[in-house]
Amino acid sequence: MERVVSCEEIKDDGVMDNTIRPEVLDEYIGQAEVKENIRVFIEASKIRKEVLDHVLLYGPPGLGKTTLAYIIARELGVNIKTASGPSIEKSGDLAAILSTLEPGDVLFIDEIHRMPRYIEEILYSAMEDFTLDIIIGSDGSSRSIKIDLPPFTLVGATTRAGDLSSPLRDRFGIIAKLKFYTEEELKEIIKRTSRVLSMPISDEAALELARRSRGTPRVANRLFKRVRDFALVDKKPEIDLEVMNKALERLKVDKAGLDETDYQLLRAIIERFNGGPVGIDALSSSIGEETSTIEDVIEPYLLQEGYLKRTSRGRMATDLAYKHLNIPYQNGLFSTDFN
Ligand SMILES: Nc1ncnc2c1ncn2[C@@H]1O[C@H](COP(=O)(O)OP(=O)(O)O)[C@@H](O)[C@H]1O
Ligand SMILES: [Mg+2]
Repeated sequence: MERVVSCEEIKDDGVMDNTIRPEVLDEYIGQAEVKENIRVFIEASKIRKEVLDHVLLYGPPGLGKTTLAYIIARELGVNIKTASGPSIEKSGDLAAILSTLEPGDVLFIDEIHRMPRYIEEILYSAMEDFTLDIIIGSDGSSRSIKIDLPPFTLVGATTRAGDLSSPLRDRFGIIAKLKFYTEEELKEIIKRTSRVLSMPISDEAALELARRSRGTPRVANRLFKRVRDFALVDKKPEIDLEVMNKALERLKVDKAGLDETDYQLLRAIIERFNGGPVGIDALSSSIGEETSTIEDVIEPYLLQEGYLKRTSRGRMATDLAYKHLNIPYQNGLFSTDFN
């Protein structure tokens, strides 16, 4: 079964995403600094009648990068064309997308860190002087051609800004880091979703749900949807604290929003590696999750909340992790009855 608290998109999210996704900047909750800066840059580009500078959005999955890309296009009043890094394999793929752009359009490239390096290089000149230099033909008969492009805005999204080459990063005029949301912001997002889906939720239930959503709107919305099912079956006219608690207990999401995968990771560090430090590869084979899943999906929230610490020698479980898992901290000398 898929993790209900995974910040990554799952198949199930799709339909709902389209109905509850905010469409304009004013509906985009939280990320105050990023939002206000982008508002100013959009305004300025309209006054100057120039295209908006290229924008790089980065941060963990589920925090609103795709949403913001669509909002930017909408606020600019232009079309958005979308592609994802791994799907652009050949220079022809990139040329095909770029050739559909109209002046001022937004080109959104998701997972931009997963583009092949040589595609990045073609993109440099497209970003810088709106020309496309590509080589056509093969070996003996190959020649390079230059195509003029209309001015456009590239919006790139990535979970790993560090994986972008610096020449590519340097070509973004606007670089915005999205942060985990506060409980209050998530509560507001949950209230908004509740209105859009016409399923009322009490204030206290919304706050409790916010607390368990790992700072991530995608998780908040998904949990809302699941809890709504429990309320429906229990014939409750609104989601209250009782049905909320019951649903999350069934879904095995604890008071802090941690689930079995988190427990598995923290327990592995504590029980198999004496609390750490343990290297990512050892941890990965110990719990059977890919290193990239650990780094991009599981770990960010645990680090942010202080259950986990990253040192030069590897990951360590913190006091908070021991406490949360109810494991006595004995400087590595302990025995527990967990399996
Ligand atoms: N600031 C926000 N305000 C309200 N809802 C949001 C916000 N950011 C994200 N969401 C919701 O969370 C879901 C996931 O956001 P998304 O943009 O797909 O994240 P990302 O692209 O960063 O993985 C969206 O469907 C949207 O409904
Ligand atoms: Mg996305």
